[in-house]
Amino acid sequence: APDLSVSNIQAHLQQFQSIANSNGGNRSSGSSGYTASLNYVKNKLEAVGYTTQTQSFSYNGRTHYNLIANWPSGPASPTLMLGSHLDSVTAGPGINDNGSGSATLLELALNVASLKPNLNKHLRLAWWGAEELGLVGSRYYVQNGGANGVDTYLNFDMTASPNPGYFVYDDVPAIQKVFNDFYASKNIPTEIETEGDGRSDHTAFKNAGVKVGGVFTGAETRKSSAQAAKWGGQAGQAFDRCYHSSCDTTSNINVTALDVNADAIANAVWKLGVSDAPSND
Ligand code: PHE
Ligand code: ZN
Ligand code: ZN
Ligand code: ZN
Repeated sequence: APDLSVSNIQAHLQQFQSIANSNGGNRSSGSSGYTASLNYVKNKLEAVGYTTQTQSFSYNGRTHYNLIANWPSGPASPTLMLGSHLDSVTAGPGINDNGSGSATLLELALNVASLKPNLNKHLRLAWWGAEELGLVGSRYYVQNGGANGVDTYLNFDMTASPNPGYFVYDDVPAIQKVFNDFYASKNIPTEIETEGDGRSDHTAFKNAGVKVGGVFTGAETRKSSAQAAKWGGQAGQAFDRCYHSSCDTTSNINVTALDVNADAIANAVWKLGVSDAPSND
């Protein structure tokens, strides 16, 4: 699997920050900052050969959008799908929540396009709208048949919290193990993700019978002293003290977590979707 470039991912985050700065300080669903974020991702994807679709839906009197991207080569089925919500709350620019997952997924997509691995699944990526309004975009997608043919859905929501934990979704043991084996190879202990159950875009897929997985670095919950002993950082402080706040800027990113989690995601795609993928590094 490729070692995704963390500086490329940081450059995408800087673009999301600039977009927020010029659109009233946020990238909330239905706003101009969201549309600019979507266009940034979509243009990068189309430039390297993805087929994209913008799916619109109405909610609370506004139009919202999901961005779906299909990689055109590889088998038609089954589908390995990855997703991240692209919207922020209105309070701030949403760089950790969820520029982090969104920028990582974009960089993964660009790596697939340049490396052209020998895929054994169809690869589809999604950037969801209206997650912050109640997981609306991903639910709309699943309710309209989007989970059909999807074997596995991997979700990335907050992968670079400034006081990070390394949490792995435990919904499907075989997927959990793919992530855990990767972190073990880096001597990083993990814990089961519990803070987010039912709180992000994997929920609709799980309810539709799709195998789901993902990683997460923590939101408003405080890091315990046992967790600080194993991961470093500050005991008694939130994993993300700027969660849903105006200070969720490019300064609110732990670059080590951003990097390790990006590489964990690339490893998972290679393990779950690429034939003859060599190893666990
Ligand atoms: N979905 C939450 C949000 O966007 C964040 C979250 C993700 C919280 C996963 C817990 C677990 O605000
Ligand atoms: Zn890396
Ligand atoms: Zn949020
Ligand atoms: Zn989120």
